[in-house]
Amino acid sequence: MKLTSEVTFRSPSKINVFLEVQGKRPDGYHELETVMLKTSLCDVMHFERTNSGQVMLQLAAHTPTEIRKAFPLDDTNLICRAAHAVRQAAGVSCGVRVTINKRIPAQAGLAGGSGNAATTLMALNGLWGLNLPHKALHSIAATLGSDINFFLEQTRAAVCRGRGEKVQAIPIRGCLYVVAARPARGNETPRVFAGLEPVREHRRSQPVIEALQTGSVRQLVHSAFNRLTTSASTQNPDMADLMSQMSCLCDRPVFMSGSGSTCCVFARTQREAQLLLRKLDGLQPAFAAVLRI
Ligand code: C5P
Repeated sequence: MKLTSEVTFRSPSKINVFLEVQGKRPDGYHELETVMLKTSLCDVMHFERTNSGQVMLQLAAHTPTEIRKAFPLDDTNLICRAAHAVRQAAGVSCGVRVTINKRIPAQAGLAGGSGNAATTLMALNGLWGLNLPHKALHSIAATLGSDINFFLEQTRAAVCRGRGEKVQAIPIRGCLYVVAARPARGNETPRVFAGLEPVREHRRSQPVIEALQTGSVRQLVHSAFNRLTTSASTQNPDMADLMSQMSCLCDRPVFMSGSGSTCCVFARTQREAQLLLRKLDGLQPAFAAVLRI
């Protein structure tokens, strides 16, 4: 069978509509219960098989300078690390050139880098004809980061536990619309986790899961929750300001995704989402968009 020599994939982002921290683990990570949703905000990744034996990464020709400055193209990038990990697991030394059209902001709590890593694992498994089982891709994903496993599953929503790598799909109804905005400054995930205060009572994800299963936007609006919000707000006062102003303008609770600094509100319809997005213009966020779930 002749293998195709190039493939193109959309690499989605996620938001966390629920995130509770159960406690700190001996390995330094935190035990989580989090509900993740894939969003329509995607990077586009193009993979070309090469005979060079090298893993090469480049940005699409028209990429703006501010994205270029913040995007490493060397082996520290999760895309390269994922490619090397696949080669090692399969015992091959195949070559690839990856070209990425980067749209998902960094340090935003949208897991753009984790999505890219998962997309790379799946794409190269096919492009290089490796036939590594899905379980093997999950094992590699878990060694690279905590959010990558979610993107390996063909599900729009999941509750994730452990470090975040144990994924249980949630079947969800209908389309959901979220307005997301972010201040110029991003958040550093390790610092946000480090700033957590101990809590006595932990929240459960069940109300959010029920709301997703029944398609109740009203219930989602009121049950969305993120334990990392206080720590992130202390470290990023611009984000705290954006959250409170968004809440006033949109007249509903705002929730933070992941470790921030993206802040989100649910809209009842696509039309309402567009109206809410326009209301945010005056706040001059560094990034704002309607995300379809
Ligand atoms: O696993 P990942 O590289 O995405 O995690 C980034 C950082 O976030 C970790 O180094 C750790 O400081 C923190 N983290 C954590 N507990 C988790 C996930 C992430 O403390 N479950």
